[in-house]
Amino acid sequence: MSKNETILILDFGGQYNQLIARRVRECNVYSEVVPYDITIEKIKEKNPKGIIFTGGPASVYGEESPKCAKEIFELGIPVLGICYGMQLMAHTLGGKVARADKKEYGTIEVSIENNSLLFNGFEKTNKFLMSHTDFVEEVPDGFINIGYTNSCPNAAIENKEKNLYAIQFHPEVNSSKNGTKVISNFLFNICKCSGDWIISSFVEDSIKKLKEKIGNKKALCALSGGVDSSVAAVLLSKAIGKNLTCIFVDHGLLRKNEGDEVEEIFRNQFDVNLIRVNAKEQFLSKLAGVIDPEKKRKIIGEEFIRVFEKEAKKIGQVDFLVQGTIYPDVIESGLGKSSVIKSHHNVGGLPDYVDFKEIVEPLRSLFKDEVRKTGLELGIPENLVYRQPFPGPGLAIRIIGDITDEKLNILKEADSIFREEIAKAGLHKSINQYFAVLTNLKSVGVMGDERTYDYTIALRAIETKDFMTGVWSKIPYEILETVSSRIVNEVNFVNRVVYDITSKPPATIEWE
Ligand code: XMP
Repeated sequence: MSKNETILILDFGGQYNQLIARRVRECNVYSEVVPYDITIEKIKEKNPKGIIFTGGPASVYGEESPKCAKEIFELGIPVLGICYGMQLMAHTLGGKVARADKKEYGTIEVSIENNSLLFNGFEKTNKFLMSHTDFVEEVPDGFINIGYTNSCPNAAIENKEKNLYAIQFHPEVNSSKNGTKVISNFLFNICKCSGDWIISSFVEDSIKKLKEKIGNKKALCALSGGVDSSVAAVLLSKAIGKNLTCIFVDHGLLRKNEGDEVEEIFRNQFDVNLIRVNAKEQFLSKLAGVIDPEKKRKIIGEEFIRVFEKEAKKIGQVDFLVQGTIYPDVIESGLGKSSVIKSHHNVGGLPDYVDFKEIVEPLRSLFKDEVRKTGLELGIPENLVYRQPFPGPGLAIRIIGDITDEKLNILKEADSIFREEIAKAGLHKSINQYFAVLTNLKSVGVMGDERTYDYTIALRAIETKDFMTGVWSKIPYEILETVSSRIVNEVNFVNRVVYDITSKPPATIEWE
């Protein structure tokens, strides 16, 4: 990855900031979201090809509103201000920002000057998302107008000589048709980027840097079988080989065959130094009789750490602990100021007592889909790379009530049938999470001539972008019918299958 070409995105608190970073990267240019109050020295150190000011909820006249140093505009680095970023640029450079009587909101026609470098290749009018009350009433000296709407006289402005550009609309959202083209015009026509940031060069570059950093020292990685830790582990193993040890704590609460699959991939395909700890009995004994979901989570989290630590102690001191932290974990809390170490919810927190000197987070700058691309580039099988999210506490929170080995087996079988049929029907790409739940409910049924009194399996399938909200998937009846009849026929102790038709909210995705 050629990080020589960085675009800095100054975060003024807007809701689409991550999207801006995404759009820039989609143009094969590396971008980083940084707090709006980053110092001039730091900016110089990062030596960006361009700077983007994001939108934000504040008004430039607010006492507490986030501001920027005027020197930013004197560094000779091109700047693009978006929404609040535009108003701030204009205000800081002596223009006038005013408050409109009412908010301009929606995908609105913007008339533009298409001989501007920013709008190269555009029609004279384009629809972009506008969402603002304040607007630039008077442009600063040296700026000219290059766009307007019926109610916003300055929807786009430029100072070509100084490479300063600003737009009131949001090019980063999908509803702004051709919005990405505005961004790519900024990157390529104005910042003169070359667009050489691609995943294969990221992989190559990361391996080189990790080799330099770690050298002959030892690193330790907790492998969960999830996408992030798997990709981090393979990357590290390509860089330092057997100096990496992965500990895979199999708590026995994974899906059918999953533990073996993880082992097979890492041990055989990648020749990773892998310690698999089969701790099912230990986990089940701690969980015996526990019915409260939060208690289950807590027990599993704590036990996980305990097992991990015990194994780590056998290895002795390591120099580095590998974490699968990814970019959204780093920037998700507001003004890009937080730089949290992922309290890995899969393992219930950082292992305090593991003796290590430093944390390495090789995926820290990547979005989820970039992590997946990295995984593919490294040769990790597609079915692992595109694995649906799976909660750290595993099947324990999909068995309502107390957990026993028998119930675990019932659920594993039913869940495996459901997943198989979904994949067979080609629905695995459109449904974001789907699984079976073993309800604690027994009911009467009839099989052959005999009365049965067995468990009810619930099927859950959710379509969602962010897993914060979601709708239940309208799986065709014929597929549900096949799944239901297969489960009842093939899985012992199940005589009834129901489909969960509740969205989130009000229900959550998991049942516990
Ligand atoms: P809910 O059930 O809250 O789930 O709608 C949202 C997403 O989070 C996952 N989830 C978890 N992941 N540890 C995890 O690592 C957990 O304790 C946990 N609980 C829920 C869930 O699978 C869904 O993708």
